[in-house]
Amino acid sequence: MNIDWKNLGFGISETDYNVRCYYRNGSWGELEISSSPQISMHMGATCLHYGQESFEGLKAYRGKDGRIRLFRYDENAKRMRTSAEGIMLAEVPQSLFQEAVEKVVKLNERFVPPHGTGASLYIRPLLIGTGPQVGVRPADVFLFMVFVMPVGPYFKEGFKPVDIMITRDHDRAAPLGTGHLKVGGNYAASMTSVAEAHDAGFATALYLDAREKKYIDEAGPANFFAIRDNTYITPDSSSILPSITNKSLQQIASDMGMKIEKRHIEVGELETFEETGACGTAAVITPIRKIVDKDTGKTYTYGDGSNPGPVTAKLYERLTGIQYGDVEDPYGWITILD
Ligand code: PLP
Ligand code: COI
Repeated sequence: MNIDWKNLGFGISETDYNVRCYYRNGSWGELEISSSPQISMHMGATCLHYGQESFEGLKAYRGKDGRIRLFRYDENAKRMRTSAEGIMLAEVPQSLFQEAVEKVVKLNERFVPPHGTGASLYIRPLLIGTGPQVGVRPADVFLFMVFVMPVGPYFKEGFKPVDIMITRDHDRAAPLGTGHLKVGGNYAASMTSVAEAHDAGFATALYLDAREKKYIDEAGPANFFAIRDNTYITPDSSSILPSITNKSLQQIASDMGMKIEKRHIEVGELETFEETGACGTAAVITPIRKIVDKDTGKTYTYGDGSNPGPVTAKLYERLTGIQYGDVEDPYGWITILD
């Protein structure tokens, strides 16, 4: 195996095994191990036509001691059940989710990047309706799978400030839609705006609330946060994904003596922030250097242009320190796989 761990991007690659489990006749079957990345299904499967699918994203980290750590995967299991309920998929029990994640990581242990490379093993659980329907209604057969791949940073800059672009031309989710769920349709809806942002030289798109286009929602595949006056400020919105990273940062920031505000953030307030960033499993913490609002002609800039701000840097160190086992985990967020 010849992997350049330090220069991994966020991309698909083959590993040894994945795990799968079918839901049929009202119950979940046995967890199966497969070495094929292919799946076979009826062309009428509801996931293909009507987007009846949910996915998750989490990571396994290797510590200095060589041991493998999982971060808050009980939260991913819970969120997948919320997504399932929201689009009428069969819910994956907590124990099945956790067993599947643990098993697939152990089976692919050799792909968990060495400590100190900045890389990790990305874990992608996936739940789809495979039973065929041509009318719009839920499937009666579901497939839950988990596959993994070693990854580096989502934004190629890594822990370097990026520029992002406010989008008003498209919404990724409606106020009473599925934005708070991790379902494929939201990502399909985001592709044009993210592609437009990329074409214009930006790392991603920043969404505003769909109803009024007045408040910040989230940043492509990551939540948004801002720092001002020793306060961690992050949007409260019904159409953003409740990020486990963001929730963790709020706890860390609070324990660092900061105030936490989860509330509407008006676009104009961007002018007043000392630091801003995007956070998520894949994005980790990505500092923002510049937010461009083409429609108003405004550009909001943060920091010295090349380095993360001091609070963002502290949050990053603490979060990744816990994830890689370099600092103590006072919260019980880490599960060591032995
Ligand atoms: N927002 C969106 C749209 C996402 O896809 C993700 C990634 O999962 C996040 C936010 C961050 O969530 P988390 O921190 O749980 O990975
Ligand atoms: C994650 O952060 O795990 C995500 O799922 C974002 C993804 C769209 C790459």
